[in-house]
Amino acid sequence: MYNSKISGLGYFVPDNVVTNSDLSKVMDTNDEWIQERTGIKERRHVVKGEDTTSTMGVKAAKIAIERAGIDKDDIDFIVFATLSPDYYFPGPGVQVQRDLGIKTIGAIDIRNQCSGFVYAISLADQYIKSGMYKNVLVIGSELHSGGLDMTSRGRGVSVIFGDGAGAVVLTREEDNSKGILSTHLHSEGAHAEELSLIAPGMGKRWVLDILKDNDPNDESYFPYMNGQFVFKNAVVRFSEVIMEGLKANNLEVTDIDMLIPHQANLRISQFIQRKFRLKDDQVYNNIMKYGNTTAASIPIALTEAWEQGKIKEGDLVVLAAFGSGFTWGSAIIRW
Ligand code: UT7
Repeated sequence: MYNSKISGLGYFVPDNVVTNSDLSKVMDTNDEWIQERTGIKERRHVVKGEDTTSTMGVKAAKIAIERAGIDKDDIDFIVFATLSPDYYFPGPGVQVQRDLGIKTIGAIDIRNQCSGFVYAISLADQYIKSGMYKNVLVIGSELHSGGLDMTSRGRGVSVIFGDGAGAVVLTREEDNSKGILSTHLHSEGAHAEELSLIAPGMGKRWVLDILKDNDPNDESYFPYMNGQFVFKNAVVRFSEVIMEGLKANNLEVTDIDMLIPHQANLRISQFIQRKFRLKDDQVYNNIMKYGNTTAASIPIALTEAWEQGKIKEGDLVVLAAFGSGFTWGSAIIRW
């Protein structure tokens, strides 16, 4: 059995900055409400036509591959996590294979929303642990802005989300005390609809139904979130799955050097920080600048923290996520 380690990492966010006051010009919201409830000051939105989920993923991937010091043809497999693919099908994994000009390796897409990146590296880690692959490219990328209800009706959701991408290369590590020590994944489908976008889908409303009804009050193709219910579940599940990961490795909260929580809401991160008595420099947050970028939030935050020298060799890095599904998970990494 091998371990896998993060050998390269990168991120890309669009240049276009959308501030809270920009949003207040198109919907009934304000900077004070958004900052107080979420911590978000601004987010990035793609300028239509300039980028897509797959092209942002490719840009982040190129940086990660270069930093890993490998050639694109050394990559054995691609894992792409997103809830906002360019196409209904195929998923963006194959677009990355094409756009990077990589030979006909396998590509898979992960549909686990905010937990997508943790699920994605867990999957990649198993392929490497088993010896099947040596280098796996893992991407989390989202283009939310094109699919949000940018009117007052959608303000409870639309102010939160932003666009961006992050990527890592996972590489075989022979030393079992280093790299990804373990990953822990959970789901609770009883709450599938509490944070969801149900149309178009084969379950309730397909495209033809939407076109036929042509109903201006139709909200089924915009994301829905039962905010307070999601919040309450998030704080519990984040805490549980971090503890589960530490316990599995005989580690304590005091062993954590850097916690990178999925950037769902600054208040959730602060709650966990307080609960675990972590110092400010032990938790990395960037939701203030980028909003919630779902599957991209952890790899963007991880890359930024690493670029700023906040993660050093030997550090214990914990990734944790919770979101739609509900799904949640953690990864315990010895850097
Ligand atoms: O990433 C996946 C996981 N996601 C999460 O973990 C998110 C969890 N939930 C949350 O972060 C919070 O629930 C939100 C930030 C989404 C909402 O905050 P909240 O404190 O739960 O607000 P609320 O939904 O209970 O709404 C409170 C009030 C309502 O007005 P009334 O009914 O009290 O008059 C809303 O209509 O705030 C109003 N409101 C807004 N006001 C100004 C909702 N959105 C806005 C807005 N601007 N953008």
